[in-house]
Amino acid sequence: MDTLLLARLQFATTTSLHFLFVTLSLGLVVFVAGMQTAYAVSGKAVYARMTKFWGTLYVINYALGIVTGLVMEFQFGLNWGGLSEVAGNVFGAPLALETLIAFFVEATFLGMWIFGWNRLPKWIHLALIWLVAVAAYASALWVLAANAFLQNPVGHEMRNGRAYLTDFGALLRNDSLTDSLLHVVSAALLAGGLFVAGISAWHFIRRTDEVEVFRRSLRWGVVAAPVGAFSIIHFGFLQEVAIERYQPMKLAVMYQEPARLEAARQLMLQRFGPGDFAPPSWIAIPYQIMMNGAFVLALATLACLVLLFRNWLVRLRVPLYALVVMMPVPFVLVIMGWLVREVGRQPWAVYGLLTTEKAVSDVPPGLVLASYVGFTLVLGLLVVLDYWLIATYARRGPRHTLFGTTLAEPARDRLTAY
Ligand code: HEM
Repeated sequence: MDTLLLARLQFATTTSLHFLFVTLSLGLVVFVAGMQTAYAVSGKAVYARMTKFWGTLYVINYALGIVTGLVMEFQFGLNWGGLSEVAGNVFGAPLALETLIAFFVEATFLGMWIFGWNRLPKWIHLALIWLVAVAAYASALWVLAANAFLQNPVGHEMRNGRAYLTDFGALLRNDSLTDSLLHVVSAALLAGGLFVAGISAWHFIRRTDEVEVFRRSLRWGVVAAPVGAFSIIHFGFLQEVAIERYQPMKLAVMYQEPARLEAARQLMLQRFGPGDFAPPSWIAIPYQIMMNGAFVLALATLACLVLLFRNWLVRLRVPLYALVVMMPVPFVLVIMGWLVREVGRQPWAVYGLLTTEKAVSDVPPGLVLASYVGFTLVLGLLVVLDYWLIATYARRGPRHTLFGTTLAEPARDRLTAY
C-alpha cells in the first residue's frame, strides 16, 4: 500500500471514531443543561437526579473523546504536510479556535461544573453547564468552518502557490457551512434523544425502581428524537441545493443519474480541463443508507411520540425494545454522512485548489502504516472503554454518579441542599 492510501485510510478511521464521541457530547450536553435548568427553576429533586445521572455519562464521553481529538491533530501533522503548506494559513485559524475552545474553555467550565456540585451557588453552577454547551457548539462551528473551506474554498487569495486569508467573515458565510452545521446539530439531537430514550427504555424493560427519573427522561428523549430526525432531513436536502452550486460532480455521483453525471462531466471539463474529477461511485451507497435510515428513524420516532402522548409507550413494551435497538443507528449514519462529504470531495483535498495526491506528506509508507496501526489501536481501545464505562454507569442508574454527592436516598421533592 502506498503512503496516500494509508494516509486516507487513517484519516477516515480517525475521523469516524472521533466523531462518534463528538455526536454524543453535542447531543447529551443539551439534555444535561436542560435538566439542570428544570431543577433550578422548579426545585424538584427528580431533576437533580436526572442531571447527575446523564451528566455522569456526558463526562465519561467527553473525557475519552478529547483524547481522540488529539489523535486527529497528530495524524493531520504527520500525514498531510502538503495540505498544511498550501492551505494551512487559512484553515489553520478556525482549527486552532476549535482546539482552544474544546480543550481549554469547554474543559475548564466542565471541570468547574463537576467540582462545583454543593459548593457553588445554584445559578452560577447552572451557568457553567450552559457555558460548556455553548463552547461545545462553538467548537463544532469552527471545525465545520475549517472543513467547509476544504469543500468550498472562500475568503482567500493564492500567492506563490499558497492560500492567504483575505476575508475571515467569508469563512463563516461559506455556502458549505450553514446547512452542514444545522444538519450535524440535528444529527446530534437525534443521537442524544435516542440515547436518553433508549437507556430509559432499557430501565423500564428491567422494571426499574427509579420510575420518576426514567419516566421524565424517556419523555425528553422521545420528544427530542423526531424533532432531530425531521430537522436532519430538512437540512440534508438543503445541503444538496448548495452542493449543486459548488460540487455538482459529488451530487451527480450520489444520485447516479446518467443525465446528471454527463452534465457534471461537461462542467468539470470546462472548469479544470481534461481529467477524471469524479469521486468513487460507491459514495452512492452510504448516501442511500443515510437517507433511508433517516426516513425510517423519523417515522419510528414519530410513532413513539404518538404512543407517548397516548400513554401506551411503556404499557405496550414493544416500543421500549424498539427504542433500545434504535440507539446505535444515528452513530452509524453519521459515519455514512462523513464518508459522503469527505470521499465525495475526491480527487481534491481543497476543492479546485489542491489534489489529495499533492496534499499528502512525503513520508515512507512504513511510517504511516506504523502510526495507522498504533493510533487505530488507541482509538479502538478508547471506543471500547467509552462503551464499557457508559454501559456500566447507565446500568447502575442514578444511585451512582461520578460527582461527590450521594444520591442513594430516594428522591424527595424540593431538595434544599444542592
Ligand atoms: C433524508 C435524509 C438525509 C439527507 C438528504 C442527507 C444529506 C446529506 C448530504 C448531501 C451530505 C453531504 C454534504 C456534503 O458533502 O457537503 C450529508 C452529510 C452528512 N450527513 Fe446527512 N443526510 C440525511 C440524513 C442524515 C442522518 C439521519 C444523519 C445522522 C443521524 C446524517 C448525518 C450526516 C453527517 C454527520 C454528515 C457530514 C457532515 C455534513 O455534511 O453535514 N445525515 N448528508
